[in-house]
Amino acid sequence: MVARVSGAPSANVPAFLAACRREPVTHRPVWIMRQAGRYLPEYRALREKVDFESLTRRPELAAEVTLQPLRRFELDAAILFSDIMTPLQGMGVDLAFEPGPVVRTPVRTDAQIASLPALIAERDVPFVLESIRLVRAGLPRGVPLIGFAGAPFTLLCYLVSGRPSKEFAEARSFLYAQPASAQRLLEHLADAMAEYLAAQARAGAQALMLFESWAGLLAAGEFNRFALAAVRRTAAALRRCGVPLIYYVNQGSALMSAVAALDVDVVGVDWRTGLAEVRRTLGPGKAVQGNLDPAALFAPPDELRRHVDAVIDEAGSAPGHIFNLGHGIWPDTDPGQVARLVDYVHERR
Ligand code: CP3
Repeated sequence: MVARVSGAPSANVPAFLAACRREPVTHRPVWIMRQAGRYLPEYRALREKVDFESLTRRPELAAEVTLQPLRRFELDAAILFSDIMTPLQGMGVDLAFEPGPVVRTPVRTDAQIASLPALIAERDVPFVLESIRLVRAGLPRGVPLIGFAGAPFTLLCYLVSGRPSKEFAEARSFLYAQPASAQRLLEHLADAMAEYLAAQARAGAQALMLFESWAGLLAAGEFNRFALAAVRRTAAALRRCGVPLIYYVNQGSALMSAVAALDVDVVGVDWRTGLAEVRRTLGPGKAVQGNLDPAALFAPPDELRRHVDAVIDEAGSAPGHIFNLGHGIWPDTDPGQVARLVDYVHERR
C-alpha cells in the first residue's frame, strides 16, 4: 500500500467517510435526510402494497427501500430505512404509526420508567441488523451506509407526550416537574441507543447518526442538563466502535457553543444559521453536515444552483463538509430536482 501524502485526497476512502474525519476529499459528498421515502414513485408503489411498519420490519423490503435512491442518484451515503421509534417497539413500547408515532400508554411515572427493559439488539430488533447486512451486500460504488437512532431527549418527547406535537408540552413540563425521573429515563434511553448503534456498527453500518429533531424546543440550560448530558453518555459508549458519529441538532443555532464540547465527529444543522457561523462556533475539531432548506428544492433549476452555491460558499473550502438538507426532504419534492442538486454539488466540488 502506498503511503498517503498528507493533504491529498485518498481515492480509496469514500468521500463521505473522509469528510466525517475532516480529511481532504476528491469531491464534496452529498446525501439527503429521508432520501428513501415518499417523494420517490418507486417507494410509493411499494407502500401501496405494504404498510410502513412492515417496510421497517422485513429486511428484504427495508433494504430495497434503502437502496432505491442510490439507483437514481450519485449519492455519497445510504441511510438505513427505519424509524427512530423502532428500537422502542423492540423494548416493548406499544405504539402505532398514524403516520407519526403514537405511544398507546405514554411513559410518565417512575414505575413505568423502572420497568422499561434494557435493549438487547440481537434479541429485540434482529431484523434491523439483518437489513443492514442486506444493504451492505447491495450497495453500489462502495457507498457507505449510515446507521441511526433517535437522540434520547427526542425519544423522550414521543414517549412522554405520546404523539407528534409542535410544542411537546407534556414532555417539556416533565423535565421541570420531575427532573430526576426525566434524568433516569434519559439515561436508560442513552444506554439503549448506545447498545442499538453499536449493534448496527457490528452489523456493518459505517457511520452512526443521532437525530435530535426536537432540540430547538429547549432553553440552553435544559438542553445542557438533559439532552446533551444524555448524548454525551451515548457518545462515550460508542467511541470504541471506531466509526464516525454524527449528531443532528434541529433548530439548534443557539445551542452550538454547547455542542462544540461534545465528542462527536460531525454536527448536522438546519438551515436557519449559515455554516460559516456554525463552523466558527464549533471550531476546527468538528465536521458539519447540511444545510439547504428543503423548500429550496422548489426553486427553478438555475435558482436552485444559486442556493446550493450559497451553502457551499458558507461551508468554505476547509475539509469536513457533507452537503445535505437542513431537515428531511418533503414528500411532494420533484425527484428531478434531487438529481440536479446531487450533480451540481459534485460539479462545484
Ligand atoms: O417519506 C417518509 O419519510 C415516509 C416514511 C416514514 C418514516 N417515518 C421514515 C423515516 C413515516 C411515515 C414515519 C413515521 C414517523 N416517525 C413520523 C411521521 C412522518 C411523516 O412525515 O408522516 C415521524 C415524525 C416520526 C418520528 C421520526 N422518525 C423522527 C423525528 C425522525 C428523525 C428525523 C426527522 O425527521 O427529524 C425519524 C427518522 C426517520 N423516519 C427516518 C426515516 C426514513 C430516518 C432518517 C432519514 O432517512 O434521514
